[in-house]
Order: sequence, then structure tokens, then C-alpha cells
Amino acid sequence: MSSATGRLLIVHGPNLNMLGTREPGIYGSESLEDINALCHRAAADLGYDLDTVQSNHEGALVDAIQAARGTADGIVINPAAYTHTSVAIADALRATALPVVEVHLSNVHAREAFRSHSYVSPVAEAVIAGAGSTGYRFAIEHLAAYLSS
Ligand code: DQA
Repeated sequence: MSSATGRLLIVHGPNLNMLGTREPGIYGSESLEDINALCHRAAADLGYDLDTVQSNHEGALVDAIQAARGTADGIVINPAAYTHTSVAIADALRATALPVVEVHLSNVHAREAFRSHSYVSPVAEAVIAGAGSTGYRFAIEHLAAYLSS
């Protein structure tokens, strides 16, 4: 039996499975496995269990987010390119009624103009951009603080 405080879901959007080799000057040299390990450590430090999911498919991400309702206490999401295009992912997050923290490895506001718009941000309790992989730790710490407040 788990003695955890609760359960968090980390959602990684398209192309994040390529981390480590994908434009490392922008996204860093850590792999998705490295980032998931970091997330597991951060969650465990705060007494939370953690699930992670990555997909390159919008519908699969919607399914994973819907499934979090009733199984997770909060969601950390890097929607990647779907940040800028997906009403469906934003609606799924809204439908869960769970607290959401949006993470971007890069500072999306210092890049192409289209990356400054996020469909997800209006649903998020907090948005962290440009802190690299540490942003995931910040997001988990924020969710834990939010959930215990
Ligand atoms: C990203 C930023 C997005 O604009 C981009 O499409 C990604 C990754 C980031 O983590 O910086 O795939 O979400």
C-alpha cells in the first residue's frame, strides 16, 4: 500500500521523446528519461507518487489527461507544439478540474512570435518557461505547495 501524499501526472507532448538529440542548444542535452527521473525524485522528495506519459498524438494526450480525473491530484504538462495549436488539450485539462502547471524547457517568449501564444496557459495555475529541466522540479514543488494550501 502506498503511503504517498497523492499522485501527480506529468504529460509530455510531441517531439519530447527526442530530447537529448533534438536541438540541444535550445532544449538541453538531457533525455526524456533523465527528465522523468528528475520528476520522480522531485515528487518522492515531497511524498508524491508520479505517472508520466509522452505522446506525439493529440488524441492520445487528450485520453491521458481525461484519465487523470479521479486518478491524479494535479498535472504538470509540457504540451510542446500543441501549446500553440490545441483547443482539445486545453479543454481536456479544463474538464479534469485538476490544478495544472504548464512547463516549457525554453523561454517561448524569447523565440518566434507564434510560440508566445498558449491555449493552455489560461487553464494553468502557473507557467514556467526557460528554466530548462529544472522547470519540472519547480512545477512539482508548486503543485505540492498548492495542494497542501
Ligand atoms: C517547448 C516549446 C514549444 O514551442 C515547442 O514546440 C516544443 C517544446 C519547450 O519545452 O520549450 O516542442 O514546449
